[in-house]
Amino acid sequence: MKIVVLTGAGISAESGLRTFRDGDGLWESHRVEDVATPGAFRRDPALVHRFYNMRRADARAARPNAAHLALADLGRNPAHDLTLVTQNVDDLHERAGSPKVLHMHGALDGALCAACGHRWPAPLRMQATDPCPACNRPATRPDIVWFGEMPHHLDRIIAAIAAADLFCAIGTSGQVYPAAGFAACARDHDVPTLELNLTDSANAPDFSRRLTGPATRLVPDWVASLG
Ligand code: APR
Repeated sequence: MKIVVLTGAGISAESGLRTFRDGDGLWESHRVEDVATPGAFRRDPALVHRFYNMRRADARAARPNAAHLALADLGRNPAHDLTLVTQNVDDLHERAGSPKVLHMHGALDGALCAACGHRWPAPLRMQATDPCPACNRPATRPDIVWFGEMPHHLDRIIAAIAAADLFCAIGTSGQVYPAAGFAACARDHDVPTLELNLTDSANAPDFSRRLTGPATRLVPDWVASLG
């Protein structure tokens, strides 16, 4: 079966990583406009790097959970063709063993030169004055897609959804586009949709089937049900 899975912060919650909009979410203690926009980086690059250095350290201290591991099993199952798309910037899918992960919002493990566009592996702690290895200019930023910037891999994701036998969203509140529109896109292509979430998402009506509960219980059971 051709399956497209979209994951959000909720799949990493049981690994101890904060989501954005739940009770203790990141946006409860940080303003998006201060740490997650190009303007924020122009205004105060040190604050932006502090925010992502903290999240990079948290992500490296976290461990993949049963939901990540179940999706890695699914990705290695020759009976299915999985396209795994994540809004998350942690590397828990990769560390769980998922062979291919499309990070549409970038990754904490990446560094990007705001001057020349060069990319390289991010050290644990970064600062804007770190010289770019390619152009040597002090314009180092996290390789994260900020609000107002174009997410990665959209053409490939939409094509995979249109050709899928099933679209499944796991642990995302459905509040940020374009990811929040993927279920409606699947429906428009007569692709069945499934949502696995702890609570109701903003785009719950777009899903033909929904299961409610923690990802570490729902995802392994769902993957096992696929055969
Ligand atoms: N199991 C399953 N779902 C969970 C769990 C869990 N243990 N814990 C939380 N959730 C669900 C919540 O119910 C919520 O629907 O995860 C979702 C988290 O929502 P958000 O915090 O909004 O995270 P996400 O949807 O990934 O945010 C999308 O917004 O801020 C931007 O770029 C950022 O990629 C992020 C995007």
